[in-house]
Amino acid sequence: MVAPGPLIDLVDVHKTLGTKHILQGMTLQVNRGETLVIIGRSGIGKTVTLKHMVGLLRPDRGKVLIEGRDISSYAQEDLDRVRMKFGFVWQNGALLNSMSVGANVALPLREHENLPDDEIRRIVREKLAIVDLHDVEDMMPGILSGGMKKRVSLARAIVRSPEFILYDEPTAGLDPIMSNAINELIVNMKTTLGVTSVVVTHDMPSAFRIADRIAMLRKGRIIKIGTPAEFLETDDPVIKQFVYGEEEGPDEATEV
Ligand SMILES: Nc1ncnc2c1ncn2[C@@H]1O[C@H](COP(=O)(O)OP(=O)(O)OP(=O)(O)O)[C@@H](O)[C@H]1O
Ligand SMILES: [Mg+2]
Repeated sequence: MVAPGPLIDLVDVHKTLGTKHILQGMTLQVNRGETLVIIGRSGIGKTVTLKHMVGLLRPDRGKVLIEGRDISSYAQEDLDRVRMKFGFVWQNGALLNSMSVGANVALPLREHENLPDDEIRRIVREKLAIVDLHDVEDMMPGILSGGMKKRVSLARAIVRSPEFILYDEPTAGLDPIMSNAINELIVNMKTTLGVTSVVVTHDMPSAFRIADRIAMLRKGRIIKIGTPAEFLETDDPVIKQFVYGEEEGPDEATEV
């Protein structure tokens, strides 16, 4: 049964890491079926926000609700169950260098499904083709370019056809043609499969292409959330500076 309400609901989340108060009352809802893009300056807490959504970090204060359930106090095995619904594309790719490309992409299938080897090979080939990679299954990740690694991690994220995908900088390091292809992939996942996506990006053309809503993170909380059109129309100088790439002073998290 599909629970009503937002798929993900961060409620007044606070998190201090080291000496920095990174999230300072972060409230953000992700609705089922939408593509929500999170923007904000480097070091502001975007990756930290994604990690809270899947229980890799727990809030010091506040709640993280997934389908209405607060996962912030879940035990490890319950978190593992929640995470099975998600696909992730982490910022650094996070491929295992000791395994072939094919084995990396197959990993979520081997962990969570009981499929024959030839079926796994077929699915892996199919997902790699979606990101325009062919005949790379036997290669080791170490010899791939940065952009190719990124696409392998995308293929791995979609290998189990998850309902919900988190992308951390999916187009960073890709050429414009490949960035467009990734944008189209994210849009298609939504329109054809109803996938819910949260995408962290610095790439404003990508944000405007894929977002249903954009959320801007600053000083530990969301300072604006709205449609791409609303972001383009805004008079707020801080948002305009970010969207149009103008210079601004440092925007570091607050020291505690
Ligand atoms: N495990 C950790 N321990 C201590 N500090 C951390 C930890 N993880 C993140 N931080 C700090 O939290 C801040 C936010 O980090 P985060 O990775 O979320 O930034 P970001 O917005 O994703 O930046 P970028 O756009 O550069 O990826 C940074 O100052 C970072 O150094
Ligand atoms: Mg980051």
